[in-house]
Amino acid sequence: MQKQKVLFVCLGNICRSPTAEGVFNSLIKSEALEHFISCDSCGTSSYHIGEAPDPRSQLAAKKRGIDLSQIRSRQLHQQDYYEFNYILAMDENNLSHILEDKPSNAEAKISRFLAYSKNFEELSVPDPYWNGPNGFELVLDMIEDAAKGLLSEIRKEKL
Ligand code: 4NP
Repeated sequence: MQKQKVLFVCLGNICRSPTAEGVFNSLIKSEALEHFISCDSCGTSSYHIGEAPDPRSQLAAKKRGIDLSQIRSRQLHQQDYYEFNYILAMDENNLSHILEDKPSNAEAKISRFLAYSKNFEELSVPDPYWNGPNGFELVLDMIEDAAKGLLSEIRKEKL
């Protein structure tokens, strides 16, 4: 059985995708699946390379018991398409960008992260960067839901 590697992608890699990394890692840990599944996150842009997650994302995650403080922003690169089994976009723009840069022989499964959500009909996790604190709570609600769906899909298909 090959370890399944998941990459979460947003624009800046300081709000949505590091939150998804933290939430999914916590789920993997709580199910004792660290040997079978791992995850990482990155951004399509170079805007925030090397930065820790936005303090508002860190606070919202901390309130739910998740520590994002060790994550540092990085940009999506070509090797990611070969290294990861799943590359999951937070919104439509991220998805277009990921597909545009995809090498033709890469086999990663590329989709919207919210395709795995059960309780949200939206296609995109809205960018909270320019908005108030409620946006960060909604991001977490959506991500927690999609993370559960993703885990059960990987369990069913790959483990
Ligand atoms: P993220 O949020 O893509 O969820 O990390 C954003 C962070 C920064 C910017 C936009 C979105 N920005 O324009 O700097």
